[in-house]
Amino acid sequence: MFKKPMLILFQIVMIAFITAACNTPEQPNSNSKEPEEKPAHSESNPTDTDEFSEIPDESLQKKDSGEEVKQLQLALNEIGYELNPTGEYDETTTWAITDFQLQHDNILVSGIYDEETKQLLEELIKNNDIIKAGDGLPQKAEPAFTNSGTEIIANPYDQLGLINKEHALPDDYIPEDLVIPDVPFPFAEDLPKKQMRKAAATALEELFEASEESELELYAQSGYRSYERQDAIFAANVDAHGEEAANNFSARPGESEHQSGLTMDVTSPGVNFDLVIEFGETKEGQWIKENAADYGFIIRYPEGKEDITVYQYEPWHLRYVGVKAAQEIMSQGITLEEYLEANE
Ligand code: DAL
Ligand code: ZN
Repeated sequence: MFKKPMLILFQIVMIAFITAACNTPEQPNSNSKEPEEKPAHSESNPTDTDEFSEIPDESLQKKDSGEEVKQLQLALNEIGYELNPTGEYDETTTWAITDFQLQHDNILVSGIYDEETKQLLEELIKNNDIIKAGDGLPQKAEPAFTNSGTEIIANPYDQLGLINKEHALPDDYIPEDLVIPDVPFPFAEDLPKKQMRKAAATALEELFEASEESELELYAQSGYRSYERQDAIFAANVDAHGEEAANNFSARPGESEHQSGLTMDVTSPGVNFDLVIEFGETKEGQWIKENAADYGFIIRYPEGKEDITVYQYEPWHLRYVGVKAAQEIMSQGITLEEYLEANE
């Protein structure tokens, strides 16, 4: 038998239970197999915290954002970086990836989180290895400027680097992975201008191979130029045309993409192997416009964008940025400036 206080407590509980049952709104048919509703964004999702859980699978690069980028930033912090896990693949993330790549042999240095970089990072994390952030590419505390007042970029290795009249390469920057692509040149001698950085050279070979399959006659005319070579070329152009006119088609030293090793000027017999606007009208020039992006190249100085690039139209000047960025840039008909500066 219940003792008196227990009986009162039992009665209160029973009354509360019956009242609650009577007030319950119409229940859905108990036979229906509605899936149990779950919050769209579960708070216990391990990838939604600032904890490192898993190294991202897919390739990531500047301008990407989201959970995968955040996981990459946290993964980099596991091996010695101190990145703010913003989920934005910004300049700092690009620096960290570049610095990481520079501290390892036999890996392409691009600032892009690619398959090779992923494998190396995975190995370091597995072995609990720590590296010294900045040993490959020290972070600059203060911005530096050229003699003509152009800001010098901090990361000359960046495959998505912006080099123009406002962003210059350091005068001592010489790419470390220059090679001569196996493509036709209209001259035989192995001059430095035949060279490109390795990733760009491989992509150029593929581009030329595809053009040959389309029975076109593309030739490579001018790739890598040292700072000193650009200095001499620009000085000669200034002598011949005056500084303002010269700078419309010729870059000041430090401001030329040719120093990056990511650029090749291309031409064809139809325009006597010259670098002229008419090249854009040749079948080779037309084919380049349609297909270069599929191999990672953009026409860097497009027609109608002279106010943005601040250079004349150059249908021959190809810049390697990788397939992802090239396809976005060429399909939208924009410049590298517009692509990189959007949403900044
Ligand atoms: N012709 C391009 C702008 C250069 O000199 O790099
Ligand atoms: Zn060029």
